Amino acid sequence: MVKVLAFSGSTRRGSLNQAIVECAAQAARNAGAEVTVINLADYAMPIYNQDEEDDYGVPERAQAFKQLLIEHDAFLIASPEYNSSYPAVLKNAIDWASRKVGDEAVLAAYKDKVVGLMAASGGALGGMRVLMVLRMLMQNLMCVVAPQQVSVARAGEKLDAAGKLCDEPTQKQLAVLAQQVVSMAEKLKA
Ligand SMILES: Cc1cc2nc3c(=O)[nH]c(=O)nc-3n(C[C@H](O)[C@H](O)[C@H](O)COP(=O)(O)O)c2cc1C
Repeated sequence: MVKVLAFSGSTRRGSLNQAIVECAAQAARNAGAEVTVINLADYAMPIYNQDEEDDYGVPERAQAFKQLLIEHDAFLIASPEYNSSYPAVLKNAIDWASRKVGDEAVLAAYKDKVVGLMAASGGALGGMRVLMVLRMLMQNLMCVVAPQQVSVARAGEKLDAAGKLCDEPTQKQLAVLAQQVVSMAEKLKA
C-alpha cells in the first residue's frame, strides 16, 4: 500500500491550508493509500544556518520531519501564498530535510517521491502563484510532481462550522489530485 504524508506550509491556528490538506488526505485514503497527516507546528525548527549545522548537526525535530518524508512514498502539500511564493516555515523545513546525515543517500527524503500540490487563500487567485514556484522547487529536489494541482480561492468563505474545508466542489477537485498522486506512486513503487 502506498504511504502518503500530508502537511501544509502553515502553522497558524485555523489554517485554511491545513484544512484543505486534511480533506485531500481523506481523498487519498479513499484512493487506497495509507495517509499520515502532520502539522509543521509540531516540528518547530530553527532557521537554517550552516555554521549551526556544522557545530551541532541537524536538529532533532528537523531530522524527525525528514525521517517521515523518507518513510513515505508521496506527499500532499498545501501551501499558503506569501507575497506570491511559499512561506519561510515551509521552505525552512524543506531545506533542513534536504541535508544528508550519515550514510543516507543524497536527497533521500525527496528522490522519486510523488508530490501533489494545493493552495488555499482568502483571495480570488487561490494561491495560484505559489503553486508554480513550489512545483519548481520540488522538481529540483528530484520529486515527481503530479500534473494536477488544486487552488481554492475565497477559501475562508468555504469553511464549515467545524472549521473543515471540504465542500463538494473542493472535495471533487482534491479527489482528482489525490487519485493521480496515489496512482503515480503505485506505479513508481512497482
Ligand atoms: C506575509 C503575507 C503575505 C501574503 N501574500 C499573499 C499573496 O501573495 N497572495 C495571496 O493570495 N494571499 C496572500 N496572503 C494571505 C494568505 O494567503 C492568507 O493569510 C492565508 O489564509 C494563509 O494561509 P493559512 O490560512 O493556511 O495560514 C499573505 C499573507 C501574509 C501573512
